[in-house]
Amino acid sequence: MIRIADLAYVRFRAPDLDRMEAFLSDFGMVRSARSERALYMRGSDPQHHLHVTELGEPAFLGVGLEAGSAADLAAIARSEGASPVEKIDEPGGGQRVCLRDPNGIGIEVVHGIERLPTLPAPARRELNTGARRLRRGEPQQFERGPAHVKRLGHFVLLVKDFRETEAFYHGRFGFRNSDEIFLGERGTVLAAFMRLDRGEEYVDHHAFLAVGAGRVELNHVSYEVQDLDDLMAGHEHLRRQAHAHHWGVGRHVLGSQIYDYWRDPFGNVLEHWTDGDLFNAKSPTGGVALAPGAESHWGPPAPSPFGA
Ligand SMILES: [Fe+2]
Repeated sequence: MIRIADLAYVRFRAPDLDRMEAFLSDFGMVRSARSERALYMRGSDPQHHLHVTELGEPAFLGVGLEAGSAADLAAIARSEGASPVEKIDEPGGGQRVCLRDPNGIGIEVVHGIERLPTLPAPARRELNTGARRLRRGEPQQFERGPAHVKRLGHFVLLVKDFRETEAFYHGRFGFRNSDEIFLGERGTVLAAFMRLDRGEEYVDHHAFLAVGAGRVELNHVSYEVQDLDDLMAGHEHLRRQAHAHHWGVGRHVLGSQIYDYWRDPFGNVLEHWTDGDLFNAKSPTGGVALAPGAESHWGPPAPSPFGA
């Protein structure tokens, strides 16, 4: 078993790279490379790309997970069903090991992909609240336009067998459960929000949510933006560009993120989020019973029992 250091990217296929690039630019990503066959989009953090689109029929092809070291990559290559370590013949380079999860979802464990200079994010002044009035004599300043995607936060899969999937991601990659959703009593767990294990270091409440559904489907992929103003400015920009809104704005219960969900031109759901909970290896596993309205502290009703 290794402990995955971070999420790297998601990989899609779509028949029109121009349309995908236009949507992702409005969503707040920046092109880092493009060829005749593929598009690579980044955020403001140094990762070379967070979203790959290959030309072809629409499909979700899988997810890239970042190994913490070359030794970890080599260890994964020795595990059941894994490819040997191979060079990545794409912009950004690096090495990878390919395998599939129990649902047939493609997984690329990667290492050594080029890092790029951080992109500037909007400067912000303090927020004044009822209790804390920290900004004095300084007006807020904003520009209209897309949000500024920072990094890839999490992906969500509907899976055939929840326990089998949970065992795989825990056993192969070191994921741990932050919160579980159960039916009636605690024994029947339906879904789990899983975080990375970086020991004492605090990480996002979840990098992966697996929902037992008896079928396999990508539910959504989620990107962190700079802050609430960035999320709301991005919302207005996507609306003005007439993209398809899916759900939000609201604040989740499990993970606490403020969320806003959109559809790309090929039907995939992408989320903006900000202000999520941070856990570390000592954080206990929590949970709630599945109930209508349990997904949000505030915001419009979810379009399905699990949200987007
Ligand atoms: Fe999400």
